[in-house]
Amino acid sequence: MNRIAEVIDNCKNQEQAKMLQAACRAALVGGSIIREKYDAPRSITMKGEINLVTDTDVASEAAIVASITEDTPEIAIMAEESTGTHPQATAGDVWIIDPLDGTTNFAHGFPFFAVSIALLRDGVPLVGVVYCPMQDELFTACHDCGAWLNGGPIKVTDTRFLVESLVATGFPYDIHKNLDEILMQLRDILPKVRDIRRAGAASIDLAYVACGRLDGFWEMDLQPWDTAAGWLLVNEAGGTVTDFIGKNYSPFIPEILAANPTIHSLLLKQLE
Ligand code: IPD
Ligand code: CA
Ligand code: CA
Repeated sequence: MNRIAEVIDNCKNQEQAKMLQAACRAALVGGSIIREKYDAPRSITMKGEINLVTDTDVASEAAIVASITEDTPEIAIMAEESTGTHPQATAGDVWIIDPLDGTTNFAHGFPFFAVSIALLRDGVPLVGVVYCPMQDELFTACHDCGAWLNGGPIKVTDTRFLVESLVATGFPYDIHKNLDEILMQLRDILPKVRDIRRAGAASIDLAYVACGRLDGFWEMDLQPWDTAAGWLLVNEAGGTVTDFIGKNYSPFIPEILAANPTIHSLLLKQLE
């Protein structure tokens, strides 16, 4: 628990520390299930034409929900595989949980996936955790207290020019509906940046912006559990997070642009 203790010391108050500890414990529990099942045979079912769910998504979610409920029984839960449409998601306290972000990667044995857990209070993120089990990397953030990777502080890059930037994006499961728009974004941005990554887990893309491995990230058609934790990570690491026209971000809107402040304004011009 050393990497958690370091971050908890920096929390503003006991309540925040308790919530961060609960989120970390649950993320590590879910992550250890995912890691154990990585080499086991997978049971895969289809949620849509290319949208998968595995038994590991479900097992991770059950363990995370049990852990969070034990630590904070009073707080509502919105979790992708079970209670994805919690009606009070924007009011009061609610945990927003993606038990396995990057399911397609997991199913194909591509080791880039995470558990993502955030606590929102009236729509504002108080705590955010993204845990990458194969890399054993724990990204944590607390409102007004900074962002951390395995207990060490992180911040966004200071890259100032698109041509020097490494950025990331993702493609929605119903890509055929927005194919033209997505290709237009790529056509505009790809020739201007150093390169683009599409690694397949939005929560990690955001965590990587927060810790400076990426300069920016944009994607459309995401769900609250994909972005809620990463949103706080980027904010607390000094980055800027908005929609595609520069308005304040909320995980209940489908599009996100997150980057260091300079790259954010340059990418915004391309997306607007
Ligand atoms: C997906 C991943 C992916 C993004 C998709 C998400 P899932 O989440 O974050 O990177 O492009 O839009 O739905 O389904 O693996 O939890
Ligand atoms: Ca997801
Ligand atoms: Ca998921």
